[in-house]
Amino acid sequence: MIEGERVDLRAVEPSDLPLLASWLNDPRVMRYWGRPGQTLSVAEVAAREAADAARGNSRKYIIQTKDGHPVGQIDYYDLDWQNRSASVSILLGDPEYWGGGYGTSAMRALLGYLFRELDLHRVALTVHESNVRARRSYEKNGFVVEGTLRDWAYFEGTFTNGLAMAVLQDDFRRLTDG
Ligand SMILES: CC(C)(COP(=O)(O)OP(=O)(O)OC[C@H]1O[C@@H](n2cnc3c(N)ncnc32)[C@H](O)[C@@H]1OP(=O)(O)O)[C@@H](O)C(=O)NCCC(=O)NCCS
Repeated sequence: MIEGERVDLRAVEPSDLPLLASWLNDPRVMRYWGRPGQTLSVAEVAAREAADAARGNSRKYIIQTKDGHPVGQIDYYDLDWQNRSASVSILLGDPEYWGGGYGTSAMRALLGYLFRELDLHRVALTVHESNVRARRSYEKNGFVVEGTLRDWAYFEGTFTNGLAMAVLQDDFRRLTDG
């Protein structure tokens, strides 16, 4: 278990797979993931999880509130030991929880683990330019925009830019060390 301030991160159990599938099939949740019409079966989600785990350079967690209620998923992937870097992604599967500080807390907990326990140097992600809530949440954990990916995604009938964001260990430590 990785403990955060408002949420904890725990392993994904087989019993979580139907919940994961329901999040991944919710068009509201998938809007910014570019897959609003996704229809994944529980078996397909299980197969994806198994394939990701077999690659060995990623890890997914369930985000749960302090009273044990699962509200989302967060993961790191493309873990690169030579360059001490990784990428991350996050989603809160229940829109009721958006804007309540849970996503920022979950990301802070994961970054704490990646920087302080694994001693990574750099953590990166890509976000839709128009996903203001996500951008603000990432900035609160020290992510900065490093570049614009022109016409990165076909989104709601038009091409939109992506933003490449990253946070370095020093930035994160400055932000979070008392
Ligand atoms: C992105 C996500 C993980 C962020 O987590 P969250 O718990 O909702 O975010 P938080 O409440 O911690 O922080 C959001 C910040 O954005 C601000 N915000 C929210 N909506 C905003 C808007 N429309 N314009 C400007 N700021 C906004 C909030 O006020 C808050 O900042 P503050 O604390 O300084 O006031 C979550 O909303 C989510 O999963 N969304 C759906 C899937 C998704 O977009 N995933 C990311 C794909 S890259």
